[in-house]
This record gives sequence, structure tokens and C-alpha cells, in this order.
Amino acid sequence: MGRPFYVTTPIYYVNDAPHIGHAYTTVAADALARWRRLWGDDVLFLTGTDEHGLKVQRAAEERGVHPQEWADQTSERFREAWRELDITNDDYIRTTEPRHRASVQAFLQAVYDNGYIALDTYEGLYCVACEAYYTEDELVDGSCPIHGRPVEHVTEENYFFRLSRFEQPLLDHYESHPDAVQPEGKRNEVLGFIRQGLRDFSMSRTSISWGIPLPWDPTHVTYVWYDALINYIAAAGFGTDDERFAQYWPADYHLIGKDILRFHAVYWPAMLMAAGVELPRHVFAHGYLLVGGEKMSKTRLNQIAPADLLADFGSDGFRYHFMADQRFGPDGDFSYEAMVARYNADLANNFGNLASRVLNMATSYCGAVTPEARENGPLVDATRLAFSGLGDGYARLDFAGGLAELWQLIKEANAYIEAREPWRLHKVGDRTAAEAVLGDCLEVLRVIALLASPVIPRAAGELWRRLGLPGTPEDQRLPDAAAWGAVATAGAPLEKGSALFPRIDAT
Ligand code: MSP
Repeated sequence: MGRPFYVTTPIYYVNDAPHIGHAYTTVAADALARWRRLWGDDVLFLTGTDEHGLKVQRAAEERGVHPQEWADQTSERFREAWRELDITNDDYIRTTEPRHRASVQAFLQAVYDNGYIALDTYEGLYCVACEAYYTEDELVDGSCPIHGRPVEHVTEENYFFRLSRFEQPLLDHYESHPDAVQPEGKRNEVLGFIRQGLRDFSMSRTSISWGIPLPWDPTHVTYVWYDALINYIAAAGFGTDDERFAQYWPADYHLIGKDILRFHAVYWPAMLMAAGVELPRHVFAHGYLLVGGEKMSKTRLNQIAPADLLADFGSDGFRYHFMADQRFGPDGDFSYEAMVARYNADLANNFGNLASRVLNMATSYCGAVTPEARENGPLVDATRLAFSGLGDGYARLDFAGGLAELWQLIKEANAYIEAREPWRLHKVGDRTAAEAVLGDCLEVLRVIALLASPVIPRAAGELWRRLGLPGTPEDQRLPDAAAWGAVATAGAPLEKGSALFPRIDAT
């Protein structure tokens, strides 16, 4: 087994149906997981659902069903959405599972025994949508700064987590691990927040019953965020499977949206320190996908479900858009028209045309078998550059930048065909020259199918098959398989096939 690589998405609240904001993080995590598998890593890719708390309890009550029943139904909708998007998560955690409950209770007991949890009375302003308390000055026009909804005045006797004790340890940690929070701007935000001073926060509730009871005082249930964050270690086996936990923890990447940065970069590491558990290596916070300039939300009725786009673009077209056309970091505007335009330009035209013209010509001019690629063909350097550029992109989680490098190779291969005109070479009877050009292009197609497979797995697999290559792109191992001529392809049977990405008419 290779080096362990552990990547997570947030666990999604089951009060809501899956939308493209959720899919965005999940597709990114999937591309990264698939990429690391190509390198031979022993990947653990985790996603799942967050099923406790007031928000979910109320969503269930509104529908007159038990929260568990509601959670079962909605969690299944997320699973279904991920299946349709070819998400290859290795595990799927639900916070109502016994293994999660066992981990949470083991973790809480450790933090309690270490003296970082104590009973106190709390009075504050609570936003149910955030499942978080706010101070007066954090409110905008008296409402929640994120949801713009009124907050509720709550008084509770609760157990408090001594977050204030971790101000300096957190600053020290981020000082010695400068890339722990990415991108850079988000790291600065986190440091600024910690430097303002950290307040203890209440980590239990008596006002609701839908949660995990505290092991030492079952009249309280665990605050939903405290419970939810523990999913990342629960799935790795904390408190239930020590060997697995030693294998996968600490996580390499927690991928999250920017709205939940504080929970992941302040609360979570402090909780782990309090329990004496290692901290995750990286937290990467991406921006929002905006629709018409606004964040998607149920109240604004501007949510787009993945299924709305899948019918037109297919899973590959969907995945490609969110990886190549949205920068992973800043906010990005989603528009159907832009998605169509980029699909047609990059997938139908550049990628699809290269594949179909090369396969068509090689079938007609080379007897439908692959000619030898030249050792020093003119596309060798471009292929090497595309591979290293793509790799750099993945290393920085700059998926769009990495894919642009790969698409540069596609453009160069298309330009090479235009310049050499193999149809003319064929016409004048220069079979050797025509075969040389097409042999080079077929080798480029092999490398493209391999390198694009984490993002467009279906088309990549199909292209691999049409190239007559053994196995699948997923069976290959980097870096060797990306080298020019790495696979003996001469004589492989070719198949033309129909368009890999049929053009979409936007009207
Ligand atoms: N349950 C918590 C996470 C707990 S993790 C231990 C939660 N769930 S959520 O379903 O509300 O949101 C999950 C993720 O989806 C967040 O990272 C959030 O940023 C992301 N997104 C929700 N809407 C989004 C967009 N419009 N655009 C991009 N991401 C968005 O928070």
C-alpha cells in the first residue's frame, strides 16, 4: 500500500437537499482523491451528513416526522447525488451512526478529563441557521450576519469548552505551520480572529434532545458543531479502531467553504489540542458559488440541484465546469450560459475534436491500428510541461490552473495537426509522414486520457478504450505512466466512436 492520503469534505446538513455548492466541494475532493490514487497513495476520501442539532430537529418537526426518519431520507439524497456525479468516496459517515457516537463520547470524555470542559450559565443570541451564538456587535441590523434572519435570545446552563486557553497554542501552531490554513488570505483572517481574543463557548444543550448525550451528564446533548467536527476522526477510527486511526490521521486536507472556516481553523484544532490529538495538516477554504451575484439559499429560492445540470452536461461536463471554470478559492458566479460556452469550447471543440479527428484519420490512414510514436516527436516537451503544470495545480489545489496547462497540450496538438495536415500527407501518398504525425497525436491522447481522468473519468475511460489500451486510466501509476512512450501502444486496435462531448445548443 502507498502513502496514506486523507481528504474530507464538510458533512452536509440534512435539513437541506444537495445543491451545486455542496457538489462543488465534493467534486474537488473527488478529483484530488482520484489524482492521489493515480500516484499510488492509499487514499481515504470521506464525505457524509451532519444529522443532529436544532436545525435538523425543526426541519423534521415541520414535516411531522421523526428527525431520524428525516435524516435517513435526506442523507440518501446526498448519496444519490454523489453516485450520479461519479464521486468515489471511500467512506460515508453519518453523525447518527453508532461508530460516530462512540468516537464523540470517547473524545468528549478525554477533553473533560483533561479539564477543558466546565459547567456555566450562558445567555446569548443564537442563530439557528448557523447553529452558533453571536454578540450584539456581530449582528447586522439586529440579524444574523450570514443569514440575515432574526437571532433568538437564549439562556441555558451549559457545559463550556475552554477555548480561551488555546489562544497562544493556536498562534504558535500557525506560526510553525504556515500552510496549515489556505489560501493565504484565509490564514490571515484566522490569525486576526484569534488575536482579537477567544471566548469559551457552550458545547452542550439541554433545550433540545436531538443530539449525542454527554457521557458524564446525559441530561445534556452535545452542541451540533462539537459533534460534527469529530466526524473527521470518527471515520478514521478514533476510539474505535486504533490501527486505522494511526494509519490515516492526521488528515491531509479538510476542504471546506469559507463560511465554516472558524469552526475548522479555530474550534477544531483547539478541540484536538484539548484531547491530545494531532491537528489536521491543511484546511483549505474555498469561496461561494454565487447565483446572480448572491449566495444560494433556500429562502432566496435560487438553489440549483446537481440533477438540474446533469441532464444537459452529463457527469463529466458538470465536473469539468466546477474544476476548470471556477477558481478554487475566491467566490465565483455561476451562470448556465458561461457553463455552456466553456463546455462547447473546451470539451466539445478542443478535447472532443482532437480525439475524433485523430481517431478518424488513424482509422482511415493507418488501418485502424496505432502507429509507433516517435521518441523525439515535436509534442514530447509540451506533454512533459502539461504533466508538471497539472501536478503543480493539484499541489496548490489550483484545479483551474492545472487544467489550463493540460488544455494547453490539447491546443498544441490541434495546432500541430493543422500545421502538418495529415490528410494532405495521406493524399500525396506519404504514409510514413502521416503515420508519424498521427502516432504522436495518439500518444498525446493517451496521456491526456490518463491525466484528465480525475476530472472527466467517463470520457477518459472511453477514450482509453477507443485507443485500444489495456485496463483503464485508473490502473495506471504516475509519474511513470505519463512519460512519453510509457506504454507499448504500437499495433493497438483503434475505434472511432461517436462524439465524446456532443455540442450543446444554449437556446
Ligand atoms: N454541517 C455543516 C458542516 C459541518 S463539517 C464538520 C455545514 N453544512 S452545510 O450543508 O450547510 O454546508 C456545507 C458546505 O457547503 C459548506 O462548506 C458551505 O460553505 C458549502 N456551501 C453551501 N453553499 C455554498 C455555495 N453557494 N457555494 C459554495 N459552497 C457552499 O455547514
